[in-house]
Amino acid sequence: MCSTLEAGSQQGSWKLNLATESQPTFEKLVKSSERVRDLGEVFTPSTTVQEMLDLLPKKMWTVHPSSTFLEPSCGDGNFLVAILERKLGRVSDEFENGLLPAGVDIEAAQFHALEALASIYAIDISSENIIGGTPGHEIGARTRLLSQFSEWNELELGKILTPRSIAMKAAKWIVDHNLIVGNMLATDTGGKPTGRENIPLIEYVFNPGNRNVALLKTTMGDVISTQEAKTGEMLSLFPAAEPEKFWTGKALSMGVAEIIEAPSLLGPARNGTGRRA
Ligand SMILES: C[S@@+](CC[C@H](N)C(=O)[O-])C[C@H]1O[C@@H](n2cnc3c(N)ncnc32)[C@H](O)[C@@H]1O
Repeated sequence: MCSTLEAGSQQGSWKLNLATESQPTFEKLVKSSERVRDLGEVFTPSTTVQEMLDLLPKKMWTVHPSSTFLEPSCGDGNFLVAILERKLGRVSDEFENGLLPAGVDIEAAQFHALEALASIYAIDISSENIIGGTPGHEIGARTRLLSQFSEWNELELGKILTPRSIAMKAAKWIVDHNLIVGNMLATDTGGKPTGRENIPLIEYVFNPGNRNVALLKTTMGDVISTQEAKTGEMLSLFPAAEPEKFWTGKALSMGVAEIIEAPSLLGPARNGTGRRA
């Protein structure tokens, strides 16, 4: 048996996932020996992912403001789906108890679910892993997160989303901008800079008061230098407690529905001063 997310798997090694004993599924941790050799591609089993996430402080799963994560070599998204699962679980709990900051209706829950989705950033050098859609790589990380978002809407809110639903269009816009094909090494094997500093990123600030979202363009270079200067680590981007620190440019403020109408923010990269070149 294999889960729908791993459909099309023909080769590589398989591991029995005992996380759900009543419904065992198989996880594909290696796609091919060539990809292990060329990309160092061995995926982390879901049980290990869960154990690692358990080590994080509980406050990481707060609904709002939602802590941000960056996976710098995400594969097809094993960490991303586990992070989203935890975040959506918290949205469900607060929705059921009437505690969501945006309100008690279904749209409030969708607002915070989009906030959770928008807090997850990822890079991988392989387009097969991010985008998928090719033989042997049918499902990429973007599709996995979108499927998860859609399934959560159906199971928790009784909302069946289609590609034309506004929430689904907003979710697709978010994963298309947050999950990026790119090289996260600073230099290639010849010592030449890869230009990772220019990888474009969007910062989101969700305002539950008016259910608007502010979008701000930034770059990986800005994020890395700010984060390294601060903590020497890269686990959490744009720490939620102090988002204004990153508020260095003109923001677009819009309702969730308007995210999908957002002009392309991925224009020229910023120069070293943090302003657009
Ligand atoms: C060991 S796998 C880990 C995948 C995922 N993080 C997981 O734990 O399941 C390493 C991943 O890094 C990606 N990768 C290799 N070189 C990279 C680079 N220079 N920049 C970004 N991603 C890279 C590969 O495509 C592969 O998906």
